[in-house]
Amino acid sequence: MSISERDSLAEGPTQWLNGPGGKDGLFRSLLEALPYASVVIDSEGRLLFVNSQTEKIFGYRRDELLGQPVETLVPERFRGAHIGHRAGYISEPHTRPMGSGLELTGLRKDGTDFPVEISLSPLKTEAGTLITAIIQDVSDRKRLEVALRASEERLRAILDNTEAVIYVKDTQGRYMLVNRRFEKLFHVANPQIVGMTAHDLFPKEFAQVFAENDRKVIHIGVPVALEEVVPQDDGPHTYISMKFSLDDTSGLPYAVCSISVDITERKQMEESLRESERRFRHLAHDQERQLILSERLISFGELTASLAHEFNNPLGIVIGFAQDLLTEVDPSDPRYQSVKIIEEEARRCKKVMKNLLDFGRQTPPQHTQTDPVEMVRKSLELVSPRFQKTGIRTVIENPGGLPKIWADAQQMSQVLVNLYFNALEAMPRGGTLTIGVAAMPSPPADDPAPNDDVIISVTDTGQGIEPGQLSKIFLPFFTTKSKKGMGLGLSICKRIMEAHHGKISVESAPGRGTTFSLYLPADRRRRPR
Ligand SMILES: Nc1ncnc2c1ncn2[C@@H]1O[C@H](COP(=O)(O)OP(=O)(O)OP(=O)(O)O)[C@@H](O)[C@H]1O
Ligand SMILES: [Mg+2]
Repeated sequence: MSISERDSLAEGPTQWLNGPGGKDGLFRSLLEALPYASVVIDSEGRLLFVNSQTEKIFGYRRDELLGQPVETLVPERFRGAHIGHRAGYISEPHTRPMGSGLELTGLRKDGTDFPVEISLSPLKTEAGTLITAIIQDVSDRKRLEVALRASEERLRAILDNTEAVIYVKDTQGRYMLVNRRFEKLFHVANPQIVGMTAHDLFPKEFAQVFAENDRKVIHIGVPVALEEVVPQDDGPHTYISMKFSLDDTSGLPYAVCSISVDITERKQMEESLRESERRFRHLAHDQERQLILSERLISFGELTASLAHEFNNPLGIVIGFAQDLLTEVDPSDPRYQSVKIIEEEARRCKKVMKNLLDFGRQTPPQHTQTDPVEMVRKSLELVSPRFQKTGIRTVIENPGGLPKIWADAQQMSQVLVNLYFNALEAMPRGGTLTIGVAAMPSPPADDPAPNDDVIISVTDTGQGIEPGQLSKIFLPFFTTKSKKGMGLGLSICKRIMEAHHGKISVESAPGRGTTFSLYLPADRRRRPR
């Protein structure tokens, strides 16, 4: 059907359309010039005009469309609804986009459909209202939109499926986007967080640091890796944050992005590694020291043995003369005190010499059958005046019926006296010293012989020993008594106990007291084996 044919069909509107300027009228030229498909329909929905873009987009020739219902250009499935909408629009026509919010679809002659956007406007003519529809093929845009959505979804999937904490903030420090990990850790959801700042989420001192770090990154303009401490529900965590600015097309930064990885565990592991390395070095140092000491002791032992002899006699003479003088000088004489000091100091020297001699002289024990309780009693008698003076009570606990031991009573008494003195020095304000003598508990089940090894325990109620020092007290020259001790007592004890095939051990509770235990094998010669 040609246009002239249509003119005779719809006289009024067509005439208007063809207007004062006839068929090449202004309006027609305008519609023709549009880069979009444009059609004009009458109130019955018949196509009165289609421009050349319409022909191109829909694949019809103009004469195939004119006079046809506009639904020709609408896919079958939407036609019914379209007729209804059209009638509604005709009754209340105004300029608006068609089907706002709906996906609109056009139908080509070849039966394929495609997405369109349509804007409608009424044309009032004397002959009635016509409707102009401008139709835009948005296939390309839709395709782009789909591609964009897919790429955004891919990006989201990456952001949300990482253990890293990721956020993007604008240059004012307002969050633009955070990933799921961020939402979970800091209890915020994505739409709400947009526009918030770190100050809305974190305590001030943390928020300030984050803001400052982000500001620096934008300022520097190159990616930066920083360590950041972040408060979380279970306490502060350490992160390593990779930060970089995002630039717009003109190269100006509009945002900063941060990708942060939690390194708390790694840090803790590093720290404990460092700690064990420190401990190991300490231990190695101790071992080395002990080795040096024991080497030094060999020559020291030889030296002291000879020196002690040399010193002992002159010291004896000094003490003798000092004592003579003390009997001659009147105690009120000022010289009396000086002589007294000479005598006391010479005695102290002699004691030190004796200690050194004991230490250096590694005489093998002269074993005899020894009653352990008797041995304890005698050794205690040697020191009891000192104990009484300090207000220390002494108790010997003995169940009776104990076997004799095979020991050097002299050397064992030296061990006990050393322990008593240590106890005395640990109880400067008095206390109790308990010496227990007992048979070794719990005999091994498969041992047919009576178990008659003996334990002597020396317990004080003194200051105790710090756990860190327990492993050191048997080392020669270890002392906490500065000038008052040489740190030799316990190492002598240990050496004597080993020479007896026995053992010495210690248990201590700082502030409450200490127990030294001496394990002594019984006189095995008499045991049937
Ligand atoms: N009963 C105890 N209570 C508390 N600390 C003790 C006790 N016995 C030993 N010690 C600790 O062990 C260290 C070593 O003791 P050790 O007898 O070997 O040397 P010393 O008493 O310091 O000096 P020396 O015995 O040579 O005069 C002491 O300095 C002290 O710190
Ligand atoms: Mg001592």
